[in-house]
Amino acid sequence: MVPEIASRKHVEKIIPVISEALREAGAAWEDLDAVAVTYGPGLVGALLVGVSAAKAIAYAKGLPLVGVNHIEGHVAANFIEHADLEPPFPCLVVSGGHTNLVEVEDYGKFRIIGSTRDDAAGEAFDKVARAIGLGYPGGPKIDREAREGDAEAIPFPVAHVEEAPYGFSFSGLKSAVLNYLNHAEMQGLTVKRADLAAGFQKAVVSQLCERTMALVDEKKYKKLAIAGGVASNSALREALMKACEERGVAFYAPSPVLCTDNAAMIGCAGYYEYLKGVRSGEDLNAVPNLGLGER
Ligand code: KG4
Ligand code: ZN
Repeated sequence: MVPEIASRKHVEKIIPVISEALREAGAAWEDLDAVAVTYGPGLVGALLVGVSAAKAIAYAKGLPLVGVNHIEGHVAANFIEHADLEPPFPCLVVSGGHTNLVEVEDYGKFRIIGSTRDDAAGEAFDKVARAIGLGYPGGPKIDREAREGDAEAIPFPVAHVEEAPYGFSFSGLKSAVLNYLNHAEMQGLTVKRADLAAGFQKAVVSQLCERTMALVDEKKYKKLAIAGGVASNSALREALMKACEERGVAFYAPSPVLCTDNAAMIGCAGYYEYLKGVRSGEDLNAVPNLGLGER
């Protein structure tokens, strides 16, 4: 991803996208009660385009402005389709930049239980996909490729993070895949790409699933949610659904299209903030490394 190009594309697309969204929703400007916008975490240039557009609309139309944390938006994607899901509940947040196991204590209120100490889960998918020639974004491509492969053919170890039972680590796994490829190449062996994708995916899913279900078991939770781009991974959804079924735990996941970055999730998180009375001023700025639960 080239940040400069991404920001320029945002400038080009933001007005047509907003017009199209209003048209598809059959809504006029007068139907809006507030303008929600994400201001971080993310790429500063792209964030600034969104924040500037939202501020301009809020000012021109006299609407309240509500700044939303991007990661909180991912969690809120669950509320769009699951009216029965209410806090408190644990949520596994897995995106391209974040891997967190959190307790959602209330709307917009989080407690981080575990985080990755190196790469995010999505980052590992993207790096491995590039190494095996699948291109970007790697997650959906590995997901598809893995369906043709044997997950047991090339076993990769599941990482454990010392003294952090709910911590994650994916850089060792990424190195193990790269070493495997180098080794095979030096020996002149052909690697079955689908098997490698399936083996790698299994190791990621096992790690995410183990830690998440350990928290569910320890706290005796009766529900679990997942969020973020990697939450659209079919193997992860299947594994967590099965583990939840075995325990009589209700499992919630947004539809895949609401897992990867989208505006509906920001609107949903903004709605709950708006109800709480949260308002942003004209000085709202992009915060590229805004943490989960931070404002
Ligand atoms: O949440 P998101 O859309 O953007 C960020 O906030 O980072 O997540 C993007 C990440 C990328 O790393 C992408 O490869 C991964 O989500 N992803 C997947 C799948 N779909 C998207 N990873 C695994 N399996 C998928 N099906
Ligand atoms: Zn995201």
